Amino acid sequence: MANTERTFIMIKPDGVHRCIVGEIIKRFEQKGFKLVALKMMQASQELLETHYGDLSSKPFFPGLVKYMASGPVVCMVWEGLNAVKTGRVMLGETNPADSKPGTIRGDFCVQVGRNICHGSDAVESAQKEIALWFKPEELVAWSPNQAPWVYE
Ligand code: RTP
Ligand code: MG
Repeated sequence: MANTERTFIMIKPDGVHRCIVGEIIKRFEQKGFKLVALKMMQASQELLETHYGDLSSKPFFPGLVKYMASGPVVCMVWEGLNAVKTGRVMLGETNPADSKPGTIRGDFCVQVGRNICHGSDAVESAQKEIALWFKPEELVAWSPNQAPWVYE
């Protein structure tokens, strides 16, 4: 059931302030991925410290948490074949300077500390992140009419 692989995509506060929310959603929709959950929220420092826990020893960690808590984020779960890997390709490299044109970071941002979106880096981390940010009942079960036109 590889077509049901899920990834956690989050638009960071700079993406919200800069009005790129619709553009990012559009790209995942048009790709053919299925939207499973979506919400806007102000994330707490505690939630962000857990989310980025693997990076807690990095010198940029306090600044990262402050940036992520500085405004609202838009959290999403997208589902589809290779959704995790393809989602990362769509986002571009962590540093926008290395991101190719055509990727979200390549097209819309400049600096690593303001790179407008997050995407899970592995299937296991996606599962952890989805469970961290969403309640089970927030994940919607539905069958898009387009499915037979996206998958053979
Ligand atoms: P993300 O988790 O946000 O999708 O980003 P990523 O996997 O591409 O990169 P990761 O290593 O997980 O870093 C998380 C976020 O920390 C900020 N960062 N700043 N100043 C720096 O050198 C630096 N390095 C990373 C970025 O916002 C990065 O997306
Ligand atoms: Mg990461």
